[in-house]
Amino acid sequence: MEIKLQNITKIFIAKDKSKTVAVNSLDITIPSGKLVGLLGPSGCGKSTTLYMIAGLLDPNEGKIFFGDEDVTDAAPEDRGIGLVFQNYALYPHMTVRQNIMFPLENIRVPKEEALIMAQEMADLVGIGELMNRKPKQLSGGQQQRVAIARALVKKPRVLLLDEPLSNLDARLRLQTREEIKRIQRETGITTIFVTHDQEEAMSISDEIILMDFGVKQQIGEPQDIYDSPDNLFVAKFLGTPPINIMDGQIKSKKVMIADGKKFKMKTVEIEQKVVQEGEQEIVQEVQTMEVKEYEFNVAIAGTKAKSQKVVVGIRPEGFVVDKDGPLKLDVYMVETIGRDTTLVIKDPTDEGRTFRVIVDASHRVKPGQKIGFSIKRDKVFMFNKETGELI
Ligand SMILES: Nc1ncnc2c1ncn2[C@@H]1O[C@H](COP(=O)(O)OP(=O)(O)O)[C@@H](O)[C@H]1O
Ligand SMILES: [Mg+2]
Repeated sequence: MEIKLQNITKIFIAKDKSKTVAVNSLDITIPSGKLVGLLGPSGCGKSTTLYMIAGLLDPNEGKIFFGDEDVTDAAPEDRGIGLVFQNYALYPHMTVRQNIMFPLENIRVPKEEALIMAQEMADLVGIGELMNRKPKQLSGGQQQRVAIARALVKKPRVLLLDEPLSNLDARLRLQTREEIKRIQRETGITTIFVTHDQEEAMSISDEIILMDFGVKQQIGEPQDIYDSPDNLFVAKFLGTPPINIMDGQIKSKKVMIADGKKFKMKTVEIEQKVVQEGEQEIVQEVQTMEVKEYEFNVAIAGTKAKSQKVVVGIRPEGFVVDKDGPLKLDVYMVETIGRDTTLVIKDPTDEGRTFRVIVDASHRVKPGQKIGFSIKRDKVFMFNKETGELI
């Protein structure tokens, strides 16, 4: 079932008459049979959007279509949706079986039939053995599966999940997100998955809708958005470690970091010396102050854009260790994961700011080393300094 939101706006008016535009002229299409991640920072209007699709909130403006059907004014129970909340919202006094059967009792499905349907759903989500337990006798992940089974048992046209994994610990979150993906594939049900976690959205979604301040920022397949962000917000929101941001400028069809100036930075080093004093060895700490000069009048990429000041973003994997490369940078800290290594580098143009660079673990870099880097062109992005739009 394709879902279409046409120019949807939702404004909340508080008691003191102050207005919050939670969702602002949102135009989106959720393709039939897909799992779509609705992603954005906390407070950007994700839940509000979901509840308008569910019919729990009315938009101030705009229309909502399920297929060709205009459901803007339809009651929630007439829309054919299954809704799962972050806190599961199970009935604590009922068993798993009773919880899952509850929506069927409401529409007076005969008991025999309801029992079979509930068991089918419980088996699908992998809790078929736990039907006689009460919610408090289940783990968080199992409770979440009960909530999903309950949402699916009426065979809804659309499954809506609002931050369904937030209350689970890290390992369960991974496991349950794989499960949700599997259940969605097996049922083929059109699913909207709300999350503020970019990694979660990237890993589970066929498509991502990225929002900020109630406004759509970009829609697309996760890899496409990551590789071609439309603006600075999108570039910064997707990716761990995040994209490295620096001031730059375009000069004669070349992208330069900073203003092509030389930068001086003071570094303090503490050296330990062992001195012999008679019979005794004494360890002395010697402090040396060094002023290093960094030259940044280096072109890191070519461009067709006209000369202007820009914001430059370079993905952490865009730095290639290359002793003849244009950027010579001091490594401040080394974070080893095993698969690869993250180098933390102090931005010489802005004290207090650091870059993160991912290199192959085989490089065995040590803190304090100076490393030469060349830059992969397709990992460099330039943004308009005022609007943040991609150049
Ligand atoms: N019932 C409400 N009354 C007033 N303001 C609300 C209400 N619900 C949400 N908001 C406001 O609308 C904005 C979007 O909220 P929400 O959709 O819950 O964001 P998200 O789910 O992305 O965290 C926020 O600024 C929030 O404070
Ligand atoms: Mg929310």
